[in-house]
Amino acid sequence: ATGAITLDPGYKNSGSCQSKITFLDGEEGILRYRGYAIEDLADKANFLEVSYLVIFGELPTKQQLAQFETDIHKYTLVNEEMKNIIDGFPKTAHPMGVLSSLTSALTAFNPKVVNVENEKEMYEAVCKTMGKFLVLATWTYRKSSGFPLNYYDNTKGYVENFMRLMFELPTGPYKINPVVVNALDKLFILHADHEQNCSTSTVRMVGSSHAGLFASISAGVSALWGPLHGGANQAVLEMLEEIQKDGGDADKFLAKAKDKNDPFRLMGFGHRVYKNFDPRAKIIKKAADEVLAELGVNDPILNIAKRLEESALQDEYFKSRNLYPNVDFYSGIIYRALGIPTDMFTVLFAIGRLPGWIAQWKEMRVNKEPIGRPRQVYTGYALRPFTEMNQR
Ligand code: SDX
Repeated sequence: ATGAITLDPGYKNSGSCQSKITFLDGEEGILRYRGYAIEDLADKANFLEVSYLVIFGELPTKQQLAQFETDIHKYTLVNEEMKNIIDGFPKTAHPMGVLSSLTSALTAFNPKVVNVENEKEMYEAVCKTMGKFLVLATWTYRKSSGFPLNYYDNTKGYVENFMRLMFELPTGPYKINPVVVNALDKLFILHADHEQNCSTSTVRMVGSSHAGLFASISAGVSALWGPLHGGANQAVLEMLEEIQKDGGDADKFLAKAKDKNDPFRLMGFGHRVYKNFDPRAKIIKKAADEVLAELGVNDPILNIAKRLEESALQDEYFKSRNLYPNVDFYSGIIYRALGIPTDMFTVLFAIGRLPGWIAQWKEMRVNKEPIGRPRQVYTGYALRPFTEMNQR
């Protein structure tokens, strides 16, 4: 894990890549950002600090972190004409679809191509993306709820602003709960990067054609939306609510998940890489207990989740396939306790993953990686003669 590895030269166009950002070991359940253990970062750092680490490679000094936040503040205003775009969506539009469109639309208002060789320009693009994406992400909720759109308050913290942008009404100031801010900070940190997952690989692939940063992030949002990926946190809550409505029998749904004739899968379980416990799930499960206790929330859904987990961990089908709870299994329970609407859960995943997408896009471009071009194994027809219409 500390020594350099060599990839065969063919890796360049095989879709795999070299990266210095995140190390994970699926067998051991290890996750590190720039060499730092996720457990330490979640416990001792805040989200902007970890965003700086993931993007620029080092933990910031106090001054660097303060400057980073000040520089983000330069770009927290979104062009008022963006409201014409969001007004074009029906209230029923899923927030992820709106967010992907708004992020791509940022290119129209910031057409300057990012010169990644120019550190100042790259830094400006990072701060612009961190500032505007958060505002647009909350506008998707405000639009669907019919509330007026809020503006970032540069006198308040990044995660505090998320809660204000989401819930502050013209009728009075939103009361910030430090327990909520601390829980969200930890959750965003745990989502910040995860090596070459589906949405990050999408951001790298789109960026490899030298498409802009906003367009690449927009593609990442779309990939994350899928229920097999970031959309799983919403699907977990919908599954737990279905179990609750059905009488709360977790084992009945465990049996459904094992039935090959039933397309039902246990959402929040399994992972392409972790064939052991997802280290993030362990931290989030502990945080769920703490946050619900601190907020005095007794959510029966949490008890159903714990029963489902206990049964699955003892079940031969799940054990033999190394199916453990992943990052999405418990995160939705915390979001629900914080009053976040279910269809916004994946938007919160995107807010957390944003620094990872930016970092990976930047690394790919600075490394001058070639345009992505995965190869294939052709399994179609060999050459055959043309068939005239009257012979088909
Ligand atoms: C994320 O890549 C990342 O890093 C992603 C992520 C990140 O931070 O970016 O970690 C975030 O996307 C987490 C995953 C969230 N998705 C879900 O929780 C959706 C439910 N999980 C599954 O759909 C599935 O586990 C995947 C998609 C996550 C992984 O699928 P794999 O590794 O391709 O596994 P598979 O589909 O090949 O399944 C292997 C076996 C199959 O049974 P057999 O054919 O061997 O009999 O396990 C079964 C599957 O049917 N299986 C499940 C299951 N997941 C796999 N059976 C029931 N429930 C499940 N959840």
